Amino acid sequence: MIAGNGGDGKAISSSAPLKIAVFASGSGSNFQALAEAVRDGRVHATIELVVCDKPSAFVLERARNFGIETYSFSPKQYPSREAYEEEIVAKLQAHGIDLIVMAGYMRLVTNVLVEPYYGRMINVHPALLPAFPGINGIGQALEYGAKITGATVHFVDGGTDTGPIIAQQAVEIRDDDTAETLGSRIQQAEYGLLPTVVGWIAEGRVTLNGRKVTINN
Ligand code: GAR
Repeated sequence: MIAGNGGDGKAISSSAPLKIAVFASGSGSNFQALAEAVRDGRVHATIELVVCDKPSAFVLERARNFGIETYSFSPKQYPSREAYEEEIVAKLQAHGIDLIVMAGYMRLVTNVLVEPYYGRMINVHPALLPAFPGINGIGQALEYGAKITGATVHFVDGGTDTGPIIAQQAVEIRDDDTAETLGSRIQQAEYGLLPTVVGWIAEGRVTLNGRKVTINN
């Protein structure tokens, strides 16, 4: 287990490789970028589990190609969000997961997940938070006429993309951008940013104090 549970001014730290669970709902290209960084030794961690709420999502195939265990479920088969999250938490505990990485996981989370993992659960969002939270962050920025948007990695709290910000990368919006062209430049930013942040956490360099996140040298 790692030390430090966030919000207490202590860095998350671990001498053993950080045990990660990735949560995703779709293609899983961010999972792929992270899994390659782990495989290549750029991030001192192991991805133990991929959790997915869509049994046909491509991320599951990507996970199997890396030999990583998957856990998929259909939310409709549960009476409540809490009910499926209880099963997820049991899985995470059985694997001794240190860090949850939400990479395109398109579901709101409840206290069942947030309480045990606050400060040990991060998310990547395709906008510069607190601008354009929630679904379609890319389309929201385009429609608003913003000139700059980007990618954010933040700790997950009970709100929609409201948790403490760890790192951000700006992406310029061009006059002729479509959701596809802008989305692909934001994703390129994400593929660098997310593994970088996970690497910092694995090195014990990330301290969470209230809303303030510090990256120590
Ligand atoms: C990513 O771009 C991520 O920022 C976004 O979903 C995409 C998933 O792509 N997440 C959100 O919009 C969360 N609000 P991927 O499955 O190819 O990694």
